[in-house]
Amino acid sequence: MRRLVVHGGAGRVTPENGSSALEGVRGALEVGWSEIDDATESVVAAVRWMEGSRRFNCGRGAVLNLQGRAELDAALMTGQRKAGAVSNLSWTSHAIEVARKVMEETPHVLLCGRGADRFARAMGFPRERIGLPARRKLYTELRGELLEGRGSRGRWSDGRPSHHPAWWASLQKLVKRYPELLHGTVGAVAVDRRGRIAAATSTGGIFLKMEGRVSDSSLVGCGTYADPDLGISVTGVGEVIIRHTFARSLAEGYRAHGRDPQAASQAALRGVPKDSVGVIALDRKGRFGVAKNTTHLAHGTRSDGSSSVRVGLR
Ligand code: GLY
Repeated sequence: MRRLVVHGGAGRVTPENGSSALEGVRGALEVGWSEIDDATESVVAAVRWMEGSRRFNCGRGAVLNLQGRAELDAALMTGQRKAGAVSNLSWTSHAIEVARKVMEETPHVLLCGRGADRFARAMGFPRERIGLPARRKLYTELRGELLEGRGSRGRWSDGRPSHHPAWWASLQKLVKRYPELLHGTVGAVAVDRRGRIAAATSTGGIFLKMEGRVSDSSLVGCGTYADPDLGISVTGVGEVIIRHTFARSLAEGYRAHGRDPQAASQAALRGVPKDSVGVIALDRKGRFGVAKNTTHLAHGTRSDGSSSVRVGLR
């Protein structure tokens, strides 16, 4: 059975940005489904569409790092264990396409930073300035607030004393106040008629992250994974997902849980901190799992078995 499952990030959404995320997921499903005869084409098309939609924290809509620059991460993996990834890509919005080129055109799996950008140029991707005006405005505000918290006033705007270098805690606080800043990583998993599986994930990472920070999304076995049985795309707090090698652990759990992607996805969430992770998983028979320990996870699916697109915030 052919199936495509897509996510637009885990977190907490408001009614306004929730409906925008679901519209985005619906659009990605349509575009990805038009390529479903080949699982790899399908997931790349779905993720590429979300990268261009400006709604999500990836591609054109990516958040900015502490220096005010986008650093994009993405990975693509197939059930035949082919993989390509990029990290800290700054001048090309379609990170998933560059990841695909890494997979198809190089002997490597992951290219980072300047090397990834140079490779993108060599592959003919145009140089783009990434950073929507709304993202830049928020960047200026939040960076000011972050610096203020470290400065002579020594307090955050909520009155809590700031103890530099409790910087990471400060960022977490910001993310709690503005959950949309963290979430919006996108991903897709597909199985085609020949039972071929592919998984793809793309992200702008975390707002005000340190320059050079690498997310789980570009790391095989953490935020993105595929083997002959199962494809997985993860969203949430990259540092948590990496420490748990989340996707690979889920794949091992799948075999231990009677090959049930839903049970395996739920089991994988046990033991990770609350409010940190969402996941989609799909096996070669078209069975899928959607699970999260955040308030929402924008996702959707389409299969041969149902003519309609199903989307939800679950
Ligand atoms: N999962 C996306 C990130 O942490 O960057």
